[in-house]
Amino acid sequence: MDEAVLKIGDREISLPVIVGTEGEVAIDTNKLRGQTGIVTHDKGFANTAEALSSVTFLDGEKGILRYRGYPIEQIADSASFLEVSYLCLYGELPTSAQYEEFVDDINHHTLVREDMKHLYEAFPTDAHPMQMLASAVSALATFYPDALDPTDEKAIDISAKRLIAKMITLVAWGYKYGLSQPFQYPRNDLDYTSNFLHMMFSYPTEGYQVDPVISKALDVLLNLHADHEQNCSTSTVRMVGSSQANLFSSVASGIHALSGPLHGGANQQVVVMLDEIIKGGGDVEQFIAKAKDKDDPFRLMGFGHRVYKNFDPRARIIKSYAGDVLDKLGKDDPMLDVAKQLEEVALSDEYFAERKLYPNVDFYSGIIYKAMGFPVDLFTVLFAIGRLPGWIAQWKEMRFDPTTRIGRPRQIYVGEAERKFISMDQR
Ligand code: ACO
Repeated sequence: MDEAVLKIGDREISLPVIVGTEGEVAIDTNKLRGQTGIVTHDKGFANTAEALSSVTFLDGEKGILRYRGYPIEQIADSASFLEVSYLCLYGELPTSAQYEEFVDDINHHTLVREDMKHLYEAFPTDAHPMQMLASAVSALATFYPDALDPTDEKAIDISAKRLIAKMITLVAWGYKYGLSQPFQYPRNDLDYTSNFLHMMFSYPTEGYQVDPVISKALDVLLNLHADHEQNCSTSTVRMVGSSQANLFSSVASGIHALSGPLHGGANQQVVVMLDEIIKGGGDVEQFIAKAKDKDDPFRLMGFGHRVYKNFDPRARIIKSYAGDVLDKLGKDDPMLDVAKQLEEVALSDEYFAERKLYPNVDFYSGIIYKAMGFPVDLFTVLFAIGRLPGWIAQWKEMRFDPTTRIGRPRQIYVGEAERKFISMDQR
């Protein structure tokens, strides 16, 4: 199978066929418009493979997710988040020497310029953490004009490390600002995730011991979010970068895309929904009925996925962790019980079965974040920390692909045909 034939009226056009490593087949329409003047129409790009990518493979039907060939089940728990970040960025697992150097590099970039504090001070204290984070990441570009050239490999590498390193400091500072508490500085003796927990939850006045159970669980959660091929935020990062915008600006755009309730914002919405169910007396059936009602815009948050149509492998790993973490923290959260009930009822309901709607990664992550002490509006920000290596890896891949063109989709105009201007006094 190396070509497809498209018949339009009495014309036949042959189009090349591309086959990926795992047998995925795509019809290459790159020359279609040039040869015929015809374009393809594909809402939400659901059938369009814009990228030839070697970062992540996922098979939504079989519930497979692999980073650079490694199954998520094998690395989520066994590799640290910085190890997974290295894998995403450079394509291979690091040797111990490479890992040590990478960790050292990241550690030495976690400090943020003091002037950045003024940026936070300009926000209202109740600003959403995602808006603050996107602004802060965007602002980082103004501090590093020497490393913005999107064609310079060395500059990109240093920007990538700065981003990963400073991300946790920026998030923690945004959180502290919202509480009117002093900003905490990073500690280079701690691992990445523990350092983040320290900046979030410690005070200058007291000693703080990072709980290794929480740190490990958070590390796993970050790993589960590290990349997910061409989702909304990643496609945004690639699209913005295709204009040769710098890495910081591209990632800031990805953060904005992730903030939407249908994407990264869903983990926050899940907890809000579970809370509503508990406050309303725990009537799970009522919410299921609302979700099924075509006249009600309500959707069961944490259910359904554009790609996973049988199960989300990340949700399975998280589900097993949710119980463990809550047990270890000695917390008995009614939310977990309601979540389990909701899952059970939904999975046995015809509406959800027919539409292949299963719990996604967000369904359980919020419950764990809550148990760890993170406020609800910080959940999406945690997703952003996790997704950062994926965004950068995908951006680099796009940047160094010699066939990359500026992202510029076409449209089919369906508005008014040409008409004559009428001056205001005649309308
Ligand atoms: N609750 C109730 N019905 C749903 C849900 C849901 N959560 N999700 C989809 N449906 C229904 C739709 O109403 C539609 O029904 P219809 O065929 O009768 O019209 C059908 O299932 C297909 O839904 P689409 O919106 O076409 O599916 P799409 O692939 O475009 O959307 C999405 C996927 C956005 C994730 C959707 O399932 C959703 O809104 N889920 C809730 C939000 C959520 O959990 N988002 C997190 C996604 S994962 C992530 O970003 C990490």
